[in-house]
Amino acid sequence: MIPIEEINLIRNNANIVDIISSYINLEPKGKNFFGVCPFHDDHNPSMSISPEKQIYTCFVCGASGNVFTFVQDYENVSFPEAVSIVASKIGYNLQYKAKLNKPHKDLYEITDIACKYFINNLNSDLGKEAKKYLKERQLSAEIIKEFKIGIATSNNLAKLLIEKGYTEKQIIEAGIANKGDNLYDIFQNRITFPINNERGEVAGFSARIYNNEKDNKYINSRENPIFKKGSILFNYDKAKSEVNKTKSIIIVEGQFDAIRVYSLGIKNVVATMGTAFTKEHINLLKKLNVKIILMMDNDEAGEKTTVTSGEELLNSNLNVEVIRLSGQKDPDDYIIKNGEEKFKELLKNPISFFEYKLNYLKSNKDLNKSKDLANYINSVINELNKSDDEILKSVTINKLAKDYDLDKEVLLNKLIVKTKTKQKKPVEVKKKTRLSKNQKLCETVIYIMMKDIKYIKKYDRDLGYLPSKEYYQIANDILAYYKLNNDFNIADFISYAHASPYYEKVIRILNDNEALEPCYDEFDDYLGLIKKLIKEKQINKLKIEIDNETDINKRLELNDLLIKLKKESE
Ligand code: CTP
Ligand code: MN
Repeated sequence: MIPIEEINLIRNNANIVDIISSYINLEPKGKNFFGVCPFHDDHNPSMSISPEKQIYTCFVCGASGNVFTFVQDYENVSFPEAVSIVASKIGYNLQYKAKLNKPHKDLYEITDIACKYFINNLNSDLGKEAKKYLKERQLSAEIIKEFKIGIATSNNLAKLLIEKGYTEKQIIEAGIANKGDNLYDIFQNRITFPINNERGEVAGFSARIYNNEKDNKYINSRENPIFKKGSILFNYDKAKSEVNKTKSIIIVEGQFDAIRVYSLGIKNVVATMGTAFTKEHINLLKKLNVKIILMMDNDEAGEKTTVTSGEELLNSNLNVEVIRLSGQKDPDDYIIKNGEEKFKELLKNPISFFEYKLNYLKSNKDLNKSKDLANYINSVINELNKSDDEILKSVTINKLAKDYDLDKEVLLNKLIVKTKTKQKKPVEVKKKTRLSKNQKLCETVIYIMMKDIKYIKKYDRDLGYLPSKEYYQIANDILAYYKLNNDFNIADFISYAHASPYYEKVIRILNDNEALEPCYDEFDDYLGLIKKLIKEKQINKLKIEIDNETDINKRLELNDLLIKLKKESE
């Protein structure tokens, strides 16, 4: 167990805005920051982060908590692990080392050892030829180091891992060895690029030939529980903290391209590693909440990929723009041939995905032929009918009519008139818990107490009790926490309460009230109402007791008590 004092110290030194923005993109608005909530499927910034209170709340799904619970849920780790992650992010040296019950810990250990081993190889005599190759491809020593590039030489990594005590099964599962007659390395005589997951841990490798032309240019780690090409974007771990500044993310097709672009100081770049876009990729991108710039290879496959991935991204309500590279095959070649300045110029002028699509529809068509032209016009109309942007429709129709000398009315008639202006996909909205009037009353009192110690004191002095076991426990713990620390801080209280059975309820109370702040001035009235409620409960209980009492004297005694209570509650 990490001592609560240490937990609070770390929380106090970790700004929730900094920590959360290392995961998702945040925009300031008023006193707070907003981002797309990563805990439900959404594209609107419905999560609000309060620097003042150091808590976050999502108004749609109800996620709420402090910096630790965010990391806990985002990274899917235990509370102590989340504390240790936050500690390391702020450079705090935590004595407690969480017994990491991380899933597939052994696989991560193996990929980590492999990565270090490959780096060593590159820096040894064995690495001379590979270093020469990397130099020819103009990768600097810093970049080689930053991307942990190495080489796999001969068949000796699996052996080393066996010596270190890993089993054949583990080594094979980690995706870097196979078994024929014997266990053998998958990567041999290749330059290795570690592929990190979004947390920056090595999940696998992509490895390129450099001293022969016969073999497959690249091979990758076999798919395994920690390495799934479909859910990893190369360089995402580094890019995700850059997008706060750039407000955009560039997507390229190969890791060499990503590294090249990155080496110009343009760090908001990720690569798909030659696979099609998956739902997981899109989710990773959605979390960033920034504009997407597609920069696929300059070949037919790249054109197709731009169209298909652009459409998928657009369907996920992302803002998509396109940059095409002319003359060179890919961003790497483009930068090497044309230089940094020219590339940076190119970056300044992306076109919208729609515009790209229209150009794409024109390709391979001879618009002087009426059949091709009709075909083209029809497909443009088709595109427009997918859009909700009335201005775009109008501008495009006007332009088509003018450019091809067509009757505007004919074109307009082909547009589908949508009855609803916007057909938004429904997001799952949290189900509001139905509360009775009395429950609502208690929750409001608890909420106000959590917001200002003035009200904790009032509660202590004027009431000190709530008419439900659970609410009473929460209020009592708030009071106890206040008395212990002589202060009350919601974010710390969340750390304190996270393991208690009422934790979920506290979070919900916070969330329900955060959107509609209750009236603090009426706190005394609320307490009065609760007092009355308690009295009523007592009276009802007493009435039942009287009815059941057979001893006449006792009955009279109870009756006196009832009269007294009734007087008090008037
Ligand atoms: N790729 C792969 N397997 C292959 C070829 C490619 O996994 N046989 C992936 C790699 O991740 C590669 C990406 O697809 O980075 C793009 O492939 P390609 O355009 O052929 O390579 P480049 O990125 O241009 O690499 P280089 O410049 O080193 O030739
Ligand atoms: Mn290339």
